[in-house]
Amino acid sequence: MSLLIHEVPTAEAPLELLLLADPSEAKIRSYLPGAKCFVAATAGTVVGACVVKPLAAGAHELMSIAVQPDQQRLGHGTALLQWIIGYFRDSGARQLEVGTGTFGYQLAFYQRHGFRVASIVPDFFVRNYPEPIFEDGIRLLDMLRLTLRYPDDPAAPTLPRAEGGR
Ligand SMILES: CC(C)(COP(=O)(O)OP(=O)(O)OC[C@H]1O[C@@H](n2cnc3c(N)ncnc32)[C@H](O)[C@@H]1OP(=O)(O)O)[C@@H](O)C(=O)NCCC(=O)NCCS
Repeated sequence: MSLLIHEVPTAEAPLELLLLADPSEAKIRSYLPGAKCFVAATAGTVVGACVVKPLAAGAHELMSIAVQPDQQRLGHGTALLQWIIGYFRDSGARQLEVGTGTFGYQLAFYQRHGFRVASIVPDFFVRNYPEPIFEDGIRLLDMLRLTLRYPDDPAAPTLPRAEGGR
């Protein structure tokens, strides 16, 4: 079934869906003003959502992305993330950033799409959330900052040639 992705006013952001990505409703509400909210729907039902906030000139931060649990692993998250990457590339962005845990499938999810580790924020999840957050039974402590630089950004790295390849 085809996935339709479009922007909605932040007042209509699907909070229960975004809470899957960020367990603090207060935090979500704090970054919604000034951000863009996108939803993905199949057959008129919203199955995914993503919030992106502008940072400094040309940079944007992906604050949260989530897919309904019973709709995960069907490719919707990949389709939504690819759409977001394309949307901001077309709007002239220089880079997209995201903060995520130091382990877990989410890290691979972003890296598969070209995000690279830029820095680490020690104890981010300890200092910013009242309750401990667990992933795969391990407590999340530190946050990795990942960056996807669009190729025409002069600071974008040139990919090394594979050794022994053609
Ligand atoms: C991250 C998320 C948006 C991905 O959406 P999705 O629709 O499941 O993504 P896809 O179906 O495109 O899956 C892409 C890959 O992610 C990985 N993945 C997704 N969900 C996973 C899970 N629960 N466990 C392990 N790997 C998973 C897999 O490698 C998967 O590819 P595969 O199914 O071919 O193995 C979704 O899993 C989600 O909402 N998670 C909870 C909220 C969250 O952690 N958001 C990110 C932090 S902001």
